Amino acid sequence: MPDHVYATQAVVAGKPGSGHSPEQCPAEETLCPVVAHEWVNDEYKHLVVKATPKALAAQPGQFFHLLCPSPDEGEVWFRRPQSVYRIARSSARIEFLYKVVGRGTRGLASLEPGDTLNMVGPLGVGFTLQPDWKNVVVLGRGVGLATMAPISQLAGERGVRVTAILSARSEEMALAADLFENVGTVIKVLDSDGTSSMENVEDILGRLIAEKKADAFFTCGSNRLMQLMKRLGKAHGIPGQMAMEQIMACGLGPCYICVRTFEVNGKLEMRRVCVEGPVFDLQECLGW
Ligand SMILES: Cc1cc2nc3c(=O)[nH]c(=O)nc-3n(C[C@H](O)[C@H](O)[C@H](O)COP(=O)(O)OP(=O)(O)OC[C@H]3O[C@@H](n4cnc5c(N)ncnc54)[C@H](O)[C@@H]3O)c2cc1C
Ligand code: FES
Repeated sequence: MPDHVYATQAVVAGKPGSGHSPEQCPAEETLCPVVAHEWVNDEYKHLVVKATPKALAAQPGQFFHLLCPSPDEGEVWFRRPQSVYRIARSSARIEFLYKVVGRGTRGLASLEPGDTLNMVGPLGVGFTLQPDWKNVVVLGRGVGLATMAPISQLAGERGVRVTAILSARSEEMALAADLFENVGTVIKVLDSDGTSSMENVEDILGRLIAEKKADAFFTCGSNRLMQLMKRLGKAHGIPGQMAMEQIMACGLGPCYICVRTFEVNGKLEMRRVCVEGPVFDLQECLGW
């Protein structure tokens, strides 16, 4: 039986003409050689893979569905979503920054340079920057910082200044500071010195609003920070975007595993994070 009866063949990154991916389809399954894979601290790894032109068209906030190797004797069911950390188009590389939390990411962490990663994407709806925004504020915590990191790339291309408020347990967990320093100001708010308190973060946001440095808000990774940005955004008429995380199975729309509730024009609405998100209008997001 031909090996591509039920699905198209995966495209091999770096091998033009390999596999098959319909031209009209913006996402594809790719086999990507691992170029580098290092720990950045005790919990997070930075993974760099060679990517195909379709993968390199990924937008900040979009994600890839990764087929993680098994870390043990069993199988890892389902792919795991990881948003792009950096898109290096000139060297045809895609980068991920991920926290090792369970079996999938433990298996992912075992990949070494020269191994191949099977990924599907780019998937979902990413962040957007309106042409009239000149100063935006990014506020996140934990893995949310990895998801928002490529906003720095988009801002750099558009000449937009970013104030990035990075909330973390400690200095070394305040990820992506180097990327945001290139396009604006980084403010680290830490549990270790008490600066991550809601009162302090609200003061910082209040100052930025008063100084007219908040044309738009972006957030990911914390319910409390999201609620704070949503409240201030509503009070001051500042548009916002939120990247939602949700456990996924197919990542493509049909299974409805990733549904969350949103409030749209006063009515509750169910939406799939994988195809209608993961980036949503901040005012429509509900807490968890
Ligand atoms: C669109 C999207 C983008 C993401 N981007 C990143 C990223 O850039 N970096 C990063 O470190 N993580 C990211 N995540 C979270 C990542 O997908 C999960 O950490 C991963 O799937 C866990 O797999 P596991 O098998 O290691 O853990 P599991 O054993 O499956 O679970 C371990 C813990 O992680 C939680 N978890 C599992 N899957 C998810 C999920 N999809 N979302 C949130 N929590 C989950 C579980 O509830 C459990 O508490 C993203 C998630 C989504 C939906
Ligand atoms: S993960 Fe299947 S519909 Fe979203």
